[in-house]
Amino acid sequence: MERSRMHGAGLLTGAVLLMGGGPVAAQTPLPIPDTLNGATIDLSLQEGTWSFRPGQPVPTYGYNGDVLGPTIMLEAGQPVTLNVTNLMPDLTTTHWHGLHVSPQNDGGPHSLIYPDSTWSPSFTVLDKAGTYWYHPHGHGFTDYQVTRGAAGMIIIRDAEEQALPLPRTYGVDDLPLILQTKPVVAGEIMLHTGLDSVVVVNGVCDAAVMLPAQVVRLRCLNGSNERSLLIGLSNAMAMHVIGSDGGLLAAPVPVDRLPLHPGERYEVLLDLNGMAGQTFDLMSYGSELPNGVMGSPDVSVAGTTPDGYTDNALNGGDFRFLRITVGPQTADPVTAIPATLAVVTPYAEADADVTRTFVFAPETMGPVGMVEGPYLINGALYDMDVINEVVELGATEVWTLTNNTMVAHPFHIHDIQFHVLDRNGAPVPAHEQGRKDVVLVPPMGTVRVITRFDDFADPDMPYMYHCHILMHEDEGMMGQFLVVDGSGVADRKGDELLVWPNPAQEAITIRWGAAAGPSAATLTDARGRTVLRQAIGRGGTAARVDVSTLAPGPYVLTLTDQAGGRMARPVHITR
Ligand code: C2O
Ligand code: CU
Ligand code: CU
Repeated sequence: MERSRMHGAGLLTGAVLLMGGGPVAAQTPLPIPDTLNGATIDLSLQEGTWSFRPGQPVPTYGYNGDVLGPTIMLEAGQPVTLNVTNLMPDLTTTHWHGLHVSPQNDGGPHSLIYPDSTWSPSFTVLDKAGTYWYHPHGHGFTDYQVTRGAAGMIIIRDAEEQALPLPRTYGVDDLPLILQTKPVVAGEIMLHTGLDSVVVVNGVCDAAVMLPAQVVRLRCLNGSNERSLLIGLSNAMAMHVIGSDGGLLAAPVPVDRLPLHPGERYEVLLDLNGMAGQTFDLMSYGSELPNGVMGSPDVSVAGTTPDGYTDNALNGGDFRFLRITVGPQTADPVTAIPATLAVVTPYAEADADVTRTFVFAPETMGPVGMVEGPYLINGALYDMDVINEVVELGATEVWTLTNNTMVAHPFHIHDIQFHVLDRNGAPVPAHEQGRKDVVLVPPMGTVRVITRFDDFADPDMPYMYHCHILMHEDEGMMGQFLVVDGSGVADRKGDELLVWPNPAQEAITIRWGAAAGPSAATLTDARGRTVLRQAIGRGGTAARVDVSTLAPGPYVLTLTDQAGGRMARPVHITR
């Protein structure tokens, strides 16, 4: 198995470039992760040691190396088997972030890989050409393992992209850039310190690269555990955004600032024609991030910034990821930014079958809980045993994301790519109008996305939706949904009653058609005795009923609506 080139000894001690243009001493050549391709991809999650900051080695995790992992190159339509071997002392999983795969292949929290064992998902690549990524996703330890270094990029190519005059020579005019800030404190990666003060790209700080004097492509991924970035160039040159999370845009969008939130990817083109000899920096302009966003001058719109937040100079500060020096052209350069790109067909809101609402709220009110979490989605923390939503295969759905907290949350949905309908009622900027799987929901704001749940149904194995601030996710700002094919579930448009899981152990979730207006749920046992009665507030469309105190056996769940009408379903309780 290939080891990542990033592993190479001498990377940090090798060529030390001294370049003009700023008061910067030593720089490290930008490492370019090795690539893996073909029908079989072997990955091992392993322990290592890495100096995110020169001279400060810390214990790390990486795929096939000390840190990060190889870039996986896939072609749309190809079959692939990924053998993921866990050589770490921890439980783990590996999730293919952004890929449209079945829930068994998705690598969410239920697909645990035990130490010294291998998980081998196998699927056909159904995605559009774009920049995706992979990372561990075990519930409660995603932050720990990702922040320690485990993450890699996935590049998918397809015929539509191949036909465009775009730079695509990996590592030459087409660069993977995994942008992260790392909390390296006293020889350790320290979570939840707020001290993510080491700025790294592809695992190194003070990175420098020479790029040819032509059009170049940067695949930017924010792989930070919590920090939002606002990307820009120090020479005020435009960046032409050509792709978002799930593929190419319809046409390039020139921007001078590009918000890049945890989990998000954008592909941008830079036109370096005629610039040979010039030097400039790829920056994050944290001073310009709106308050309420992690990394902005004030992380809370309520003015209740936690103690210590401003001690981290990166918060509200402008900092450099990469020094770019323009060198000679390559032999066959791309020299123009194409005028048009891919066919992008957003789903029409009029075609939506279902609207679901997800409300984010602090678990505890008060100055700390409001700003630091934990945060609930629809009143609940993540529970691996609770299915929060059931989606019918093929349904087009609008998901309304309402953030009743003082901080912004980058919200991610597995399985699908969505289109953003609006943010606080207004259309989003052009670069956010393509296919997305992460969207920032601003403090006290609302975002609506539309998507369709095609191809993969499974009555048991859920997909996740969650905040991609890893601490929030680990603390429970996550939920799970089943995609089921129609046979098992009542018509989602009607007043029918859905109950899951069924059989149930601790709790059941019930959902009903909006028109029913139920006022109470009751459970009656096999002898017709009412054993549980729960009132339901007006206007809800779902409720969770705790059945943990009931004896195992058959029951009937009855919903009574405001007008006295009833709907009933059998429910089995098991232990
Ligand atoms: Cu990048 Cu559910 O994750
Ligand atoms: Cu994901
Ligand atoms: Cu969050």
